[in-house]
Amino acid sequence: MEEILNKIFNEDVLKGISKIPDNFVDLVVADPPYCLGKDYGNNSDKLKPEDYIKWSKKWIDAVIPKIKNTGSFYIFLTWQHSPEIFSYIKTKLIMINEIIWDRKVPSMGGSTRKFSSVHDNIGFFVKTKDYYFDIDAVRIPYDAETKKARTRSIFVGKKWLEIGYNPKDLWSVTRIHAEDPERETHPTQKPLEIVERIINASCPEQGVVVDPFMGSGTTAIACIKLKRNYIGFEINSNYCEMIEERINKATNPLFLFIIPERNNGGNEQQDLFDYEELVTKYLSEVK
Ligand SMILES: C[S@@+](CC[C@H](N)C(=O)[O-])C[C@H]1O[C@@H](n2cnc3c(N)ncnc32)[C@H](O)[C@@H]1O
Repeated sequence: MEEILNKIFNEDVLKGISKIPDNFVDLVVADPPYCLGKDYGNNSDKLKPEDYIKWSKKWIDAVIPKIKNTGSFYIFLTWQHSPEIFSYIKTKLIMINEIIWDRKVPSMGGSTRKFSSVHDNIGFFVKTKDYYFDIDAVRIPYDAETKKARTRSIFVGKKWLEIGYNPKDLWSVTRIHAEDPERETHPTQKPLEIVERIINASCPEQGVVVDPFMGSGTTAIACIKLKRNYIGFEINSNYCEMIEERINKATNPLFLFIIPERNNGGNEQQDLFDYEELVTKYLSEVK
């Protein structure tokens, strides 16, 4: 299987998926076009709604057999089409959660004839009730103040108080804005924080994650950080080059111990670039 693991295939997932054996995959993280007319350098987000639903059913049917009995399937959608697509997947898999990703879009006027939409709908499905799920890997630690406030005897020694709480099904994570250190030139890049939480909860270490729509490569980077194997598909060759560059950076020994974290101020990112420049200069001098 070496020839398919940790590879990104520059092809239509409907064509490439046959490379993967059935019952092989621990986790599918699918972030397909949403049918909102975005420009991915192709027409994939510009289908008529009825054709979009037909196409969605087709790729979903092709991907599901690849999942192991203990495996999971997550799909990012928007409210416009999630009802039909979730209903369809429920005829094939067991639905565990609908997670709402609150993109924390700041208030700036916005629509005047409706409420502004600031969330994506993530469906979490499994093949059987025997699915892998590690809640401890994604618990959110309590801050010292909250912990102190829970001093009543009924809380003392509670595991959840020590190791943190279940992240619940509303995930408030800032979307990737233009100045974000994680930012790539892709119109709908997802934050690593979201994809990492999915992988930590639903794929064991050294397991296999398939992303049928790799975009800027977020799932591959998360897999590298978390020691999981990935297999990805992306039809736009420019995005494939972007992914390759992102992977090279993430696996470069100079970066291994400081893969950039988000939202921890600009300085650390600056340090990273200063450090890279320093080492490059050093290496050129010692040649
Ligand atoms: C919503 S974006 C994925 C973004 C990605 N999750 C990220 O964080 O960067 C969807 C991607 O699917 C790609 N795509 C569309 N149709 C495809 C197909 N049939 N096979 C493979 N990739 C496809 C598009 O080019 C686009 O980059």
